[in-house]
Amino acid sequence: MKAIQIVDLTGPDSALKLADVPEPEPSHMLTPGAGVLVDVHAAGVSFPEVLQTRGEYQVKPPLPFVPGAEVGGVVRSAPEGAGVKAGDRVAAFCMLGGFAETAVAPEFLTFPLGDLDFAQGAALILNYHTAYFSLKLRGRLAEGERVLVHGAAGGVGTATLQVAKGLGAGTVAVVSSEEKERVAREAGADEVVRSDGPWREQVQELGGVDVVVDPVGGDRFTDSLRCLNEEGRVVVVGFTEGSIPEVRVNRLLLRNVDVVGAGWGAYVMPKPHVTREVAEAIDRLIDEGAVRPLVGARFPLEEAADAMRLIEERRATGKVVLEL
Ligand SMILES: NC(=O)c1ccc[n+]([C@@H]2O[C@H](COP(=O)([O-])OP(=O)(O)OC[C@H]3O[C@@H](n4cnc5c(N)ncnc54)[C@H](OP(=O)(O)O)[C@@H]3O)[C@@H](O)[C@H]2O)c1
Repeated sequence: MKAIQIVDLTGPDSALKLADVPEPEPSHMLTPGAGVLVDVHAAGVSFPEVLQTRGEYQVKPPLPFVPGAEVGGVVRSAPEGAGVKAGDRVAAFCMLGGFAETAVAPEFLTFPLGDLDFAQGAALILNYHTAYFSLKLRGRLAEGERVLVHGAAGGVGTATLQVAKGLGAGTVAVVSSEEKERVAREAGADEVVRSDGPWREQVQELGGVDVVVDPVGGDRFTDSLRCLNEEGRVVVVGFTEGSIPEVRVNRLLLRNVDVVGAGWGAYVMPKPHVTREVAEAIDRLIDEGAVRPLVGARFPLEEAADAMRLIEERRATGKVVLEL
């Protein structure tokens, strides 16, 4: 089958090669001996794949390997007792191997697609499950609270805005450009502030926020803490800005606020029942019209390097997908 491999660790321009590789067996590393085979129609591209082309992500398979954490496609075969069967349109989280004509995913991370298209399916699991996990399970979001989202026009950002609105929260988006402001509003931002402007003062004037979801990190972190209302929570999701912030913990004491970590993969992989609960919650939000993944760019499989450059150069909005 056709697949994109990472063959060395020199970055997207030179590390990716189109190759002819054997199809995967119906066995996934998380469920050895069992797995759902999916004929891939669309594969999601995210920050971790960009990092993998440089060997900078925590998952470091031996070279060469096929990257690609999630796909939208059609089930070719599924183990007995699985919630999906051959012929079903699904969203599947395969962790690796998604940039290929066929991928294999664990049964507990493969979900029916409903009326979403394949590209939206490839945009669903990583970002929306992370959004729900961050807001609800880690951030303890309650209806009527207000959420601030950094990197709000990105994949995690747009998902977090939609999920927060769907859970009955008010939303404030932080973005870096006019185009990204438009995307954040489309994703459901009630208010939008610019990261290059006096956003902290603007958020404080709005009355502060109860939860901050931060996939960006860097030096905006202290200002995020300053925006929190009493008993507010900053949820740490990622570090696209490049540096890992440090907290002077006296701020937490003085303001009665929390900093909470949210590592979706590490938390849910050993707990299949949690992925199913989160998927049910996301399905409800889809049915209610709150969740509708925004696909910002589509590339053919062969142009995976261009897709990664878009992300790396901070030009991506919503989800970037490869189509087969
Ligand atoms: N914790 C978890 O379980 C989990 C799960 C999924 C993803 N993540 C992480 O979440 C982060 C965001 O992922 P994503 O898919 O949403 O990425 P994305 O679509 O590329 O969005 C990231 C946003 O970060 C902002 N940003 C600020 N400085 C940047 C820089 N120097 N380079 C690039 N972007 C910069 C950009 O917004 P502005 O231009 O508006 O500032 C951009 O839209 C990644 O680090 C990813 O690994 C974590």
